[in-house]
Amino acid sequence: MAVHPWWKNAVVYQVYPRSFMDSNGDGIGDINGIISRIDHIAGLGVDTVWLSPHFDSPNADNGYDVRDYRRVMAEFGTLEDFDRLLAALKERGIRLVIDLVVNHSSDEHAWFVESRSSLDNPKRDWYVWRDGKNGGPPNNYRSFFGGSAWEHDETTDQWYLHYFAVKQPDLNWEVEEVRKEVHDLMRFWLDKGVAGFRMDVIPFISKQPDLPDLTPEQLRNQGRVWATGPRVHEFLQEMNREVLAPYDAVAIGEAAGVTIEDTPLFVDSRRRELSMIFQFDLVRIDRHGWKSRPWTLRQFKEMNARLDTACGEHGWGTSFLSNHDSPRIVSMFGNDSSEWRTYSAQTIATYILTQRATPFVYQGDEIGMTNFPFASIDQFDDIEVKGLWKDFVLTGKTTEEELMTHLRLNSRDHARTPVQWSNAAHGGFTTGTPWLAVNPNHDTVNAEAVTSDPHSVYHWYRRLIEARRNNEVLVHGAFADVDPGHETVFAYTRTLDDEKMLVVMNWSTDPVVWRAPDGLTVTGTLLDNAGATHAGDVIRLRGWQSCILRVS
Ligand code: NOJ
Ligand code: CA
Repeated sequence: MAVHPWWKNAVVYQVYPRSFMDSNGDGIGDINGIISRIDHIAGLGVDTVWLSPHFDSPNADNGYDVRDYRRVMAEFGTLEDFDRLLAALKERGIRLVIDLVVNHSSDEHAWFVESRSSLDNPKRDWYVWRDGKNGGPPNNYRSFFGGSAWEHDETTDQWYLHYFAVKQPDLNWEVEEVRKEVHDLMRFWLDKGVAGFRMDVIPFISKQPDLPDLTPEQLRNQGRVWATGPRVHEFLQEMNREVLAPYDAVAIGEAAGVTIEDTPLFVDSRRRELSMIFQFDLVRIDRHGWKSRPWTLRQFKEMNARLDTACGEHGWGTSFLSNHDSPRIVSMFGNDSSEWRTYSAQTIATYILTQRATPFVYQGDEIGMTNFPFASIDQFDDIEVKGLWKDFVLTGKTTEEELMTHLRLNSRDHARTPVQWSNAAHGGFTTGTPWLAVNPNHDTVNAEAVTSDPHSVYHWYRRLIEARRNNEVLVHGAFADVDPGHETVFAYTRTLDDEKMLVVMNWSTDPVVWRAPDGLTVTGTLLDNAGATHAGDVIRLRGWQSCILRVS
């Protein structure tokens, strides 16, 4: 049997600490809250937790603006709490992966405070400073959160670069000391026993030489330009050599801007860069800029197959359709009506847990949480929404109604409403006032309800994870889409040596009779979310039914 690195066999659960569980009634999730619900996570059978940023931060972007990389955000607890979380996970055989946010820091980080203080400060070039052009910013880059990507600074009459918020200045990776500091802070957490990092927008660390203006075409997809800086691979190889390899740490790159075709440049193990990346084509299949648009299962299947091929023999992928930057999985990919919510959430889970890639489950998806019924713009907290409001509504480019139509489908805040633990007030998340409103459907959609129901979304996840653990073919087996043209059925085989499994899913509400292609005969049913068994080559599925079958 082939020997694989542990992270290929892993199943990861993402915790967004602010919204997971509040232990002290201040309305904000915290580390002690996570510890108090650890058995909910362990009960799924996952073996790895990815914790979104827990570092000291003024929270301009919910922790993705780090003020001190070695301290814990006061609202979340202390370093001792963190150590206890790490130990409690370890006791249950669960590894901890933390976020590494080093494309930028907070403007309140001591490095930036020094850097901005004078032109000749030794840390001046730790960030990207330039003179303005004709009284305006140095170039035409736009920030992800609205406005120019440059901020003028009175003190020295220069501009600093921020791909994200004004309070998130980009670090200058050209400076060797900056890279050394990053390596050092990584070692700090690895020495504590974390298993590795999810690396925030890591392909953006190498900036374009001379920072020329972008063409209108490039402006439509700036991420693509920002992810192809000339030194990105050199920096990642250096990080691998200096830190990742010696600690045998996992590195999961958040890779906005990286195409499917360029994926191997980051994940081909022979290049010694990252273990895997989050490639965004699938999770953003509905997106055109800030707008949502229709998509088809056929497009989805085509991308999925291309991504599998790109990862290839020497690379490895991630299987995810949600995170803290996306709408709820069942609302975007499934059907969140009361009739179909459970079945469709289960079928999307079937897809995620049966790829040749490491699966990621985002908190709340395992209990079938849905998008929030946002009714007005002031219900949003997200800095991204504020940027869109400024750039599009205040400028008259669009109306409030139109923006709301899209935010109702795709706002990041859908994923950030607190986890619904029970039908108690505020879903049992807090005894105080939650920082972001809890979805009113917590009276029926909650963890207590699903853990006590064997046919629930939660237990389907648990069974899928168990099946993946017990069947190597579902992890490492070759992937082949056996009916790429079908409009509602997604069917593929996974093959390892002489073992073959067939996954068949109905991604629609209409029942379907599907015939397996020549040469595939069903000999047994491993799992079926409608409790059915199948045999022969004709598979009958009700709406949103899915199954994993043994075939000969
Ligand atoms: C990606 C993170 O996932 C997102 O939440 C954040 O706003 C940006 N990077 C900036 O750090
Ligand atoms: Ca709290």
